[in-house]
Amino acid sequence: MEPLRLGVIGTGSVVREIYHYLYFHSEYSRSVSVEAICDSNAESLKEFSRRWKVPSDRCFSGYEEMLAARAAGKFALDAVAVNTPDSMHAAPSIAALEAGLDVIVPKPTAERVEEVHRITETAGRTGRFFGVDFHKREDPVVKEARARVAGGVYGSFQSATFHMLDRLMVADPNHEPRFFSSPDFAERNSPVTFLTSHMADAFMYITRLKPVEVRATGYRQKLPSLRPIAVNGYDLVDTTVVFEGGASCHIITGWALPNTADCLTVQSGRLVFSDGMLDLWDNHYGFRETTASRIENRNVSFRTFEEDGMVGGYGMDCPGKIIRNILRFRTGEIDVEELRALRSPFMTGFYTTLVCECATASLEAGRAYDNGAVVGAPVDAHDFLAQRIGTAAAKEYLPGH
Ligand SMILES: NC(=O)c1ccc[n+]([C@@H]2O[C@H](COP(=O)([O-])OP(=O)(O)OC[C@H]3O[C@@H](n4cnc5c(N)ncnc54)[C@H](O)[C@@H]3O)[C@@H](O)[C@H]2O)c1
Repeated sequence: MEPLRLGVIGTGSVVREIYHYLYFHSEYSRSVSVEAICDSNAESLKEFSRRWKVPSDRCFSGYEEMLAARAAGKFALDAVAVNTPDSMHAAPSIAALEAGLDVIVPKPTAERVEEVHRITETAGRTGRFFGVDFHKREDPVVKEARARVAGGVYGSFQSATFHMLDRLMVADPNHEPRFFSSPDFAERNSPVTFLTSHMADAFMYITRLKPVEVRATGYRQKLPSLRPIAVNGYDLVDTTVVFEGGASCHIITGWALPNTADCLTVQSGRLVFSDGMLDLWDNHYGFRETTASRIENRNVSFRTFEEDGMVGGYGMDCPGKIIRNILRFRTGEIDVEELRALRSPFMTGFYTTLVCECATASLEAGRAYDNGAVVGAPVDAHDFLAQRIGTAAAKEYLPGH
């Protein structure tokens, strides 16, 4: 099968951490060919083009120029990968779908539910494929949990607590080398969009529950104290979500753990049921190394680096399978039923964005204390959605109301 001809929009840290392995050093690399790239950051663009030998007439400073050059027949594209910051997913995705291209984005689908609604509507109207890389859905731990919960092994789900905590070096723009290409990433985004999105999606993937009410508590204590560049943002956010049927989940995420943490991302999940309990990522990942400089738990199931330079793991499998699905879609191998399932609001990340946007709204309406804590107000998910996309559309997504 011919590879998918891909235009890459945004060549920052997600490309450095995940996608350049996917495009060039994974079992999926034969299925994809990077034909053009764009990034508003000239340094990031130059680095990608130098390393992966993309000719200069296929490098652009913005997606509009890249799509215009493709429309003028300078090269061909089948799809784009939209790797821009969370708040900038919608415009390039919609422009590409309208131009007749298929689209893949890293989580979260978009920052606002209204944007997810518009993207998926555009994909439906233009008859194009739109896929979101929520890589935890391919984590074996999450996949097995989903299957066992569906099998009724543990009885009725009652309550859960998830943690996802990054080392401070991720959010700290003073850290050398800086983690994000965008210098203001941590200020313009938050642990909610960057991390809660992973865990909210993993939780809903496992339980298939829809959110009903969201309330968040945030802490702005470490990030504003950073020097010389301070970050006006949250260190940690505790989001409490009530789901249909009264089930609940606490999702605690942050990016201010001391850099001495034994893992770049410390995570855990405990789910309690009427007849059992499930602990996820217990004892980290089963690969703990001690070297002269540090003790580190490496998440080898996320990225598995092999001797021959190939990289595997669920970090590759999730976007890799989306690329293969786009190829199957283009050759008519995806039938109506499968397409409907792929376009469900769970799969497009609609409910995940709903939880995250409600958490942000909860904090915005919250009470701020002098010590930097903000205690948010409860947000009704259905009412919030109705205000954003109208009552009729909201009922389609949350019919129980
Ligand atoms: N970094 C990770 O490990 C990781 C993991 C999973 C998902 N994600 C998601 O990936 C997305 C990108 O995050 P990142 O960490 O790569 O951020 P980043 O700031 O490191 O990179 C984003 C890049 O997009 C570029 N950009 C911004 N506007 C643009 C435009 N209009 N046209 C072209 N390029 C533009 C920026 O210059 C920057 O180089 C986010 O949605 C993030 O949540 C990141």
